[in-house]
Amino acid sequence: MDAAFKYHCLNPIAKVGLDKFKDNFVKTDNVEEAEGILVRSASMHEMTFSDKLLVIARAGAGVNNIPLDICAQKGIVVFNTPGANANGVKELVIAGMLLASRDVVGGINWALSQKDNPDIAKAAEKEKKKFAGTEIQDKKLGIIGLGAIGVKVANVAKHMGMEVYGYDPYVSVDAAWNLSRDVKHVLNVDEIYENCDIITIHVPLMDATKGMINKEAIDKMKDGVILLNFARDLLMDEKAVLEGIKEGKVRKYVSDFPNPTTAGQEGCIVIPHLGASTEESEDNCAKMAVKEMMDYLENGNIKNSVNYPNCDMGVCVKAGRVAIFHKNVTNMIAKFTSTFGDKGINISDLTNKSKGEVAYTMLDVETAVTEEIVKTLENIEGVFRVRVVK
Ligand code: MLT
Repeated sequence: MDAAFKYHCLNPIAKVGLDKFKDNFVKTDNVEEAEGILVRSASMHEMTFSDKLLVIARAGAGVNNIPLDICAQKGIVVFNTPGANANGVKELVIAGMLLASRDVVGGINWALSQKDNPDIAKAAEKEKKKFAGTEIQDKKLGIIGLGAIGVKVANVAKHMGMEVYGYDPYVSVDAAWNLSRDVKHVLNVDEIYENCDIITIHVPLMDATKGMINKEAIDKMKDGVILLNFARDLLMDEKAVLEGIKEGKVRKYVSDFPNPTTAGQEGCIVIPHLGASTEESEDNCAKMAVKEMMDYLENGNIKNSVNYPNCDMGVCVKAGRVAIFHKNVTNMIAKFTSTFGDKGINISDLTNKSKGEVAYTMLDVETAVTEEIVKTLENIEGVFRVRVVK
C-alpha cells in the first residue's frame, strides 16, 4: 500500500465523498496530525495550523472562512469546489425571486394564523388580495457575477421569459460558453442598476467586492427593485438596503445569510443559508473536495485552488518528485534547477505556475530527493515550503 495520509473533517462531510478516499487515506479525529482538512463553513481564522498540514479542501464555493494568505505563506494549498453546488443555489435563487415577487410568505403566515378557523376557505378569498404580487416573465433580471451559479441563473431566467442582463469583468471562457446567447452582457454594472427590476449578486466576498451594493448603487436603481443575495451578506451594505426598503426604493431583499440587521425586518425575506443545503449539492461538493485533496496529496497536482495556481504533471513515474512553494519573483527556477544540477541529478520534468504573488514549481527527478537537497531548496530566499511528494 502507498504511504498513508491522514485527513480530518472540521464539519460533517457527505459519506459518498468520504467513500471516495482510497485505502491509504485514513480519517483522524486529531486535527494536529492531519495532512488534509475537509471543511464546510467552520471558521478557520482563529486556528493555528500544524506543520503537518498540507491541504485544506472546502466543500463549497465561498472561502471567506479560511485565512488564504496565511495558508499561502505556509505552503498550504486551499481548494474549493466551484460549480459543485451551483444547481442547488440556482434553484433557491429562482425560489427567492418568486417569493419576492408574490407574497407567498405573507400568505402562508396568514393561513397559519387561521388554522382554527372553520371558514378559512371563505376568509382566504376575501383576504388574498393582500398577498397579490407580480409575475417575473418580461421583467429585467440583472446578474452580477457570471460564474457557475450566475450562468445557471441567467439561463433558467431566460427560459422563464425574463430579459437578462449579465455583468462580469472576469468572465471565464467556460462560463461564456455555457451562457445563453440571449443574455445581454453589459460592461458597466450601472447598466444593471439603471435597467433591472430584479438584481442578484453572485461574486466571491473579497476586499474588492465587500459592500459593493451600497447606497450609491441603490440610488441608481429603479424604484421598487428586488435584491437577491445568495452570495455573502457582507457584499451588501445592508443598512443602506433597509433604508431603501423604508423609502420604497427597494421592494424586497432576499438574503440567504441571516444576521441581526436583516432577520425579521420589514421587506426582508431571510433564509438560513440553505442555498447549497441539498443532498445533491452536499454529495457533489464532498466528492469534488476529496478528489482534489487526493490528487494533491498523492501527486502534488493542483486543480481548483484559490491560493495557488493550477498545476498538473500527472502521476509521478520517476524516482522523485518535489513541490516548491515560493514567491513569484525572478530567478527562482534557475536556483532550483542548479540545486539539482550541482548534485549531478537530472530533472526529467518541470512545471512552474504563478498566481498573483505566489508560485508553485514541481520537478520530477531521476533519483530520490534527499534531505540535503530539501534543506538547500528551503534556504533559497523566497521559498515558503518544500514538499517531497515522492
Ligand atoms: C458556498 O459558498 O458554496 C455556499 O454558500 C454554500 C456553503 O457555504 O456551503
